[in-house]
Amino acid sequence: MEFNQRSIISIRDFSREEIEFVVGKALEVKQGRWHDALSGKVLASLFFEPSTRTRLSFDAAMVSMGGRVVGFADAGVSSTKKGESLADTIRTVTGYCDVIAMRHPVEGAARLASEVAGVPVINAGDGANQHPTQTFLDLFTIHEEFGRLDGLKVGMLGDLKYGRTVHSLAKALSLFEVEQVFISPPSLRMPEGIIEELRQGGTAFQEVEEIDQVQGALDVLYVTRIQKERFADFQEYERVAGAYRLGHRELSALGGQCRVMHPLPRVDEIKPEVDSGGNAIYFRQAHNGIPTRQALLGLVTGTIS
Ligand code: CP
Repeated sequence: MEFNQRSIISIRDFSREEIEFVVGKALEVKQGRWHDALSGKVLASLFFEPSTRTRLSFDAAMVSMGGRVVGFADAGVSSTKKGESLADTIRTVTGYCDVIAMRHPVEGAARLASEVAGVPVINAGDGANQHPTQTFLDLFTIHEEFGRLDGLKVGMLGDLKYGRTVHSLAKALSLFEVEQVFISPPSLRMPEGIIEELRQGGTAFQEVEEIDQVQGALDVLYVTRIQKERFADFQEYERVAGAYRLGHRELSALGGQCRVMHPLPRVDEIKPEVDSGGNAIYFRQAHNGIPTRQALLGLVTGTIS
């Protein structure tokens, strides 16, 4: 399976076999294999948008395997502020590193960057579009929990319109035998393009507005934040803010056993009472960003195979 020098832009670029391969490599990394695999490698971490988990876990992944990190966490301290184009920034940074991880507010920015870069580019989120490394770590976490990706029923709750993590996840899960349930207000439904793709691919799915309308038990409920920063109209945001607050009562309606995931950060969509119960796996999910990103960094730089 060829990953050396490959950019990671969209989960759509990966087959089921390739996803299983990455999940397997992340498991090897978590089990202690590939120690120091990134020794001597440099990551350029270019974050034009805020981040806690993605940026810090990329940094920690690199450093803890012997690599180094350069970059910025705020576009305001880069020459973007002086009017430099993204393409020129990437052409320049290419000469300073072995791999680039980039988050940018514009959809398609990562693809553009990969076309002008001389090193692999890893998309750390482009607007409301894609967040493929989040999806790899989500799939790794589900696999860790159930020992498989097939034969599950996965619900996604909240802002399915602007939430890039659920766009990538829905597409990835459609490669497996997974029934998907989308729970959102009508104005925040999964985009029609994705729904149509699932329909054409024969994926089993249902769309509902309320948690109580979900038929049968879920194995996983993937909760998302209402993406305030992506609304053009603040009044529209206020109409849907606080639409869902997951607590013990709602979990009982979903069968009581389902694992609760969330890409984080959360605002108020999961009540703190869920944190300490056996359902919550969202902090373990966030920690799985380390082995998953270590595996991806090693694969694209050719130090893990
Ligand atoms: N899950 C995620 O992308 O979190 P950050 O925005 O903190 O990176």
